[in-house]
Amino acid sequence: MIYAEILAGGKGTRMGNVNMPKQFLMLNSKPIIIHTLEKFLLNDRFEKIIVVSPREWMFHTKDLIKKYIDFDERIAVVEGGSDRNESIMKGIDYIDEYYGIRDHDVIVTHDSVRPFLTHRIIDENIDAVLEYGAVDTVIEAIDTIIQSIDGEFISEVPVRDTMYQGQTPQSFNIKKLVDHYQSLTKEQKDILTDACKIFALKGEKVKLVKGEVFNIKVTTPYDLKVAEAFIQERVLK
Ligand code: CTP
Repeated sequence: MIYAEILAGGKGTRMGNVNMPKQFLMLNSKPIIIHTLEKFLLNDRFEKIIVVSPREWMFHTKDLIKKYIDFDERIAVVEGGSDRNESIMKGIDYIDEYYGIRDHDVIVTHDSVRPFLTHRIIDENIDAVLEYGAVDTVIEAIDTIIQSIDGEFISEVPVRDTMYQGQTPQSFNIKKLVDHYQSLTKEQKDILTDACKIFALKGEKVKLVKGEVFNIKVTTPYDLKVAEAFIQERVLK
């Protein structure tokens, strides 16, 4: 089976003083999470689309879906976890409980706050995860990346041509993801905030899919303004 998981289990602390997690804020006429979910609903290769939400926002999430989306039995709303990877795992627990996990099952995980992903990106993630078992969506680094271990002086300046910026979706063979994640210690889980890094550290190949510069993650009030500008431009076109 091909699953999608939309990650909306975060609190959005970097968005500052707003009265709800950023995924529920309005972008033009709809909440951000609805823009994102709509992209996934248009792809009929997904048999189930799991939305993870913070526990205290579960009802709100379900209400928004009822309000903005025509009923679609593929959608399930599941309680998220304490960090992003734990939220991914909560979605997978749900799959395990209701459908069981088979060897070839894959999941396309995506930040609810990246509403501008394209159908090409989704389709290429599905194709690549079925072939390779792990996929990251990236764009070429535009600026030179500077590494500083102490935050004061340069430790390294990697060659820019080999640097990319990570986006989502990130897609995985579910069984492999569960196996790799369960093999980590609590300390490793705290450090390994990126699910693709878990695969890379286990020596697995992670296939790259080309993202888009506009596939931004709405993180700060500035990003919200940029997202509003994108939407306005599309509405006017
Ligand atoms: N996310 C999640 N479960 C968590 C934490 C994050 O599903 N426990 C989701 C967020 O809802 C978001 C995505 O992961 O869609 C990307 O994370 P990030 O932008 O860091 O979101 P937050 O953790 O909500 O933001 P902040 O770090 O500013 O608090």
